[in-house]
Amino acid sequence: MEITTDYLVIGSGIAGLSFALQAAESGKVVVVTKKDKMEGSTNYAQGGIASVFDPEDSFDLHVKDTLQSGDGLSHEDIVKDVVHEGPRRIQELISMGVHFSHTRKGRDELDLGREGGHSKRRIVHTKDLTGHEVERILLARAGEHQNIEILENHMAVDLITKSKLIRRGIITSETSETCWGAYVLNVDDGNVITFLSRITVLSTGGAGKVYLYTSNPDIATGDGVAIGYRSGVKAANMEFVQFHPTCLYHPLAKNFLISEAVRGEGGILLDKKGNRFMEHYHPLKDLAFRDVVARSIDMELKKSGDECVYLDISHRDAGFIKDRFPHIYETCLKFQIDITRTPIPVVPAAHYMCGGLLTDDHGRTNLANLYAIGEVACTGLHGANRLASNSLLEALVFARRSALKSAEELEEGKDKPLPKAPRWDPGTATDSEELVVVSHNWEEIRRFMWNYVGIVRTNKRLARAKARIETIQDEIREYYWNFLVTQDLLELRNIAMVAELIIRCASLRKESRGLHYNLDYPARDDEHWKQDTVISLQG
Ligand code: FAD
Ligand code: SIN
Repeated sequence: MEITTDYLVIGSGIAGLSFALQAAESGKVVVVTKKDKMEGSTNYAQGGIASVFDPEDSFDLHVKDTLQSGDGLSHEDIVKDVVHEGPRRIQELISMGVHFSHTRKGRDELDLGREGGHSKRRIVHTKDLTGHEVERILLARAGEHQNIEILENHMAVDLITKSKLIRRGIITSETSETCWGAYVLNVDDGNVITFLSRITVLSTGGAGKVYLYTSNPDIATGDGVAIGYRSGVKAANMEFVQFHPTCLYHPLAKNFLISEAVRGEGGILLDKKGNRFMEHYHPLKDLAFRDVVARSIDMELKKSGDECVYLDISHRDAGFIKDRFPHIYETCLKFQIDITRTPIPVVPAAHYMCGGLLTDDHGRTNLANLYAIGEVACTGLHGANRLASNSLLEALVFARRSALKSAEELEEGKDKPLPKAPRWDPGTATDSEELVVVSHNWEEIRRFMWNYVGIVRTNKRLARAKARIETIQDEIREYYWNFLVTQDLLELRNIAMVAELIIRCASLRKESRGLHYNLDYPARDDEHWKQDTVISLQG
């Protein structure tokens, strides 16, 4: 089966949907999404969107905080652009129908939350369910647009590129490497569809599932980075994996985050004996930058041998807690934890991928017609450590920029015919009978990434991880070519690829900076390493 469209958008989170809504003004958009259309990190975002609304705040302060968090690697021009555009993008969401929380004083005054590393209150939020509210409205608006079609349970497998067509003798052109769409697996019937498009957008989100413990939903298997990288797109800064300091620690709780906004409203971290410890690590104490807090908890746990630390907000008024954090309150209560009375057991977990596919200031990758936006991209905003709540902001800003730029490209190329792409070739594949191999490899990757490429790294641990991933990659290559593709197999192939990229970037960087902390090089080394780690298939 073959489908032709102007824009193919892969992923239905804040980045993909925001792009789709803007692009639909200039052409036909198909959004493919590998599960239910609501399912993605956006839907689970709690804290909110950072932007300057408080009269006591300023663009300069937001820029300063972002640069400080990025630990020398954020690109100042990009930071300024994103920060300055923030209020306009948030107003746009409001005009689409998003309800953000307001203060009691007036219906027009946004209630601004505070999170780690922010010198002012600037987090626009919908109580602790911000992402759900934004996703709900974006989906509603996309559903009403006649130029947008959303296909659920459709998983992108690989891009259709010029080199692939040349290899198959379909074209001979020598122009620059170009993307003409993607092969997409219909998960319900197992068929692979050829999608031909003039513009292709990777908006597939993050890769938390590469690690054993993560705040991310199951879709976060780094597909976009793996798909892009396999086709020659440059990736950057993959060593900077952000660990959120406070995920609920409970045997029955899967991936539940306790928002940094809880610390913003006075929550304090305690050890098992009830002692505060953040004052020993940073002057900003519990509201220090996220890398510092996660590392401090890791050190406390290693020192004490305890399984978790505690986050206590019970000194605040119970009515306030229930009103400000209804989702966290209700969810913890299901696990018999009443946060108005007792501290919450928490541990750090993999949360956000600061690196990704390298893009320019309009979200363009080095492959013509291919854009990357949202968590899958490395735009230069986050540097070595993302400032809290800057991710939804980045997605909004870059989705719009990419859509405007790609509309120009669409217009310029509209008279050129799309090449004819071959159908997906299943080769000599037969149904896989050994799914146990897939789940075994998944488990192994996630465990050694947690143990060897986690919050604290060493050369020896990285070398061990490298040896393990090479063996697994060999096995996957054999398996992938011998069997029909399934969602599980594709995701395994992708997390293995992303794990390999994280290990490679982490091994290249011979210093400690931001989220990358290597005990063999504990200091930051600006003389040699104040630069992005850029890697590509071409070397
Ligand atoms: P996502 O929202 O993750 O969407 C990715 C989409 O791609 C999904 O629809 C998925 O199904 C689809 N997809 C993936 N692979 C494929 C494939 N191969 N084929 C087809 N479709 C595919 N950031 C903030 O700024 N503020 C916050 O308060 C905040 N809180 C967070 C809380 C949690 C629990 C988590 C996990 C993250 C939080 N973040 C927050 C980070 C932020 O939510 C994400 O970075 C952001 O939502 C990413 O948006 P996205 O559109 O890039 O990806
Ligand atoms: C949170 O609410 O703590 C998450 C915010 C973020 O990841 O930016």
